[in-house]
Amino acid sequence: MLIDWPYPKIIAHRGAGKLAPENTLAAMKLGFEFGQRMVEFDVKLSADDLPVLMHDASVDRTTNGSGPLRQLVWAQLVKLDAGAWHSQAFVGEAIPSLDQVLSYLQARAMLANVEIKPSPGLETHSGGLIARACASLWANQKVDLLLSSFSEPALHAARIAAPQLPRALLMDRLFPDWLARCKRLDCVAVDWNERVVNAALIRDAHAAGLRVLVYTVNDVDRAQQLLAWGVDSVITDAVDRLKP
Ligand code: G3P
Ligand code: MG
Repeated sequence: MLIDWPYPKIIAHRGAGKLAPENTLAAMKLGFEFGQRMVEFDVKLSADDLPVLMHDASVDRTTNGSGPLRQLVWAQLVKLDAGAWHSQAFVGEAIPSLDQVLSYLQARAMLANVEIKPSPGLETHSGGLIARACASLWANQKVDLLLSSFSEPALHAARIAAPQLPRALLMDRLFPDWLARCKRLDCVAVDWNERVVNAALIRDAHAAGLRVLVYTVNDVDRAQQLLAWGVDSVITDAVDRLKP
């Protein structure tokens, strides 16, 4: 009843957690050097509809630019420094495009969890476009990349655009209708905030045919407990302490 789960038990959050500037190629590189084999990262659309890596709606926190990412075209975004905010070692690191990151991961046989993180109001547009880009950029890979989102409209659009790509619904709370929400989107997995899960809930999800991911677990003992309860993959910032 449960689908095969080709993904490692540990997934590196935003590339390398907080050890490198999030959602950059430098983070993917550091995650790989720590032995990580799958990375989670956040993707949204530039003003000219290019899928790029960024967590926040605005570029202020993680670059030397300012304003909403959606108001900047790729030619402007690529000039921003997305590393200096983190530390001197990463000065000059750029915002990567989805294309660049997926190529980078493929060259290292790494796997990807693409979190579709739409800018406000762009849920359906982003879900469709990012899923279509993933399907084309990840074609003919042995293991599919995993799409996820907190946005149900985005996942719905992703399902229409690239039905073959597996989907996980992210949830930061325990909705009473969590199962119906996942089933409506034909998800293979549920991706819960680690604070809401317990052993019984994980059993219920598995019994309903859903795999379980949890985010963001940075304590080694807690990760071991969750894995002992049957969690399929743990998303972590602790890429140096939790290995796949
Ligand atoms: O995909 C899991 C996790 O990344 C979701 O939260 O805010 O870190 O994107 P956030
Ligand atoms: Mg994320």
